[in-house]
Amino acid sequence: MTSIFRDDLFSGRVALVTGGGTGIGLGIAEALARHGADLAIVSRKAENVGPSADRIAGATGRRCLALTADVRQPEAVEAAVDQIVAELGGLEIVVNNAAGNFYCPSGELSPNGFGTVIDIDAKGTWNVSRAAYRARMKDHGGQILNISATLHHGGTPGQVHVAAAKAAVDAMTRTLAVEWGSLGIRVNAIAPGPIAETEGARRLFSGERADRLQRMIPTRRLGTIDDIVSLALFVLSEAASNINGAVIVSDGGLSLTGRFGIEP
Ligand code: HXC
Repeated sequence: MTSIFRDDLFSGRVALVTGGGTGIGLGIAEALARHGADLAIVSRKAENVGPSADRIAGATGRRCLALTADVRQPEAVEAAVDQIVAELGGLEIVVNNAAGNFYCPSGELSPNGFGTVIDIDAKGTWNVSRAAYRARMKDHGGQILNISATLHHGGTPGQVHVAAAKAAVDAMTRTLAVEWGSLGIRVNAIAPGPIAETEGARRLFSGERADRLQRMIPTRRLGTIDDIVSLALFVLSEAASNINGAVIVSDGGLSLTGRFGIEP
């Protein structure tokens, strides 16, 4: 897709994208590099970030570190943030994209299953935001962009763990936006609806279910990774400098119909 944004939109900035080796995270990471940012992509699995970082660096000429850290482990997150600041010279943008999901009826979901998604999505977002704030943003400002969802804007069966986790992400977005706004830190969230060609799509609405879902979406199409990338670039740009604490939905209007993308 041709970008409507200036090539140098993020030059001189350093970004961190969690879950940046695949899917929406990779799309945002690559776009930030194409628009001038140096960055680090972080994943629990080295094989998810190594080849992607090499590809981003090769295609854009920007520096792209591949870091292995589990967002559930605060010490690992702090070490990754310290390494980014030391090697890339700053940290202006954090994209909290790492997430976990699976479909499971609530009565069958184990305490550890519920807790695991809370740990990745909610605590992971907190761990990374806290580390970035303490290591860099409290003195230099910056931006945090959380990737949320729409599942909790209503009731979505089989998603109690994810809905609870993403509701926490939205609450953190608003709270930190207010608490840290005067320090030059903006905190926002994007709430994607169903996005094609993602791990979430594979887990929740592949094949014939995707066709049915598409017919329910007012715009009659699934979202694309590019849809979320464009919105992320806008929110992170100066054009959105008065947007703080917002949770911006990109779902073709699906959530307005009372559905959220999961058709078991
Ligand atoms: C029921 C399940 C389960 C399933 C795991 N569990 N999968 N329970 N149904 N399908 C339970 C396990 O039994 C275990 O509980 C607990 O969850 C932890 O499982 P582990 O496999 O040990 O966890 P871990 O290796 O840490 O893996 C985390 C994970 C995994 C979330 C379970 O799926 C993962 O790594 N996902 C990352 C990628 C991902 O999910 N991407 C999609 C994001 S989509 P017990 O009790 O047995 O110990 C998204 C939004 C989509 O976020 C919105 C769409 C509209």
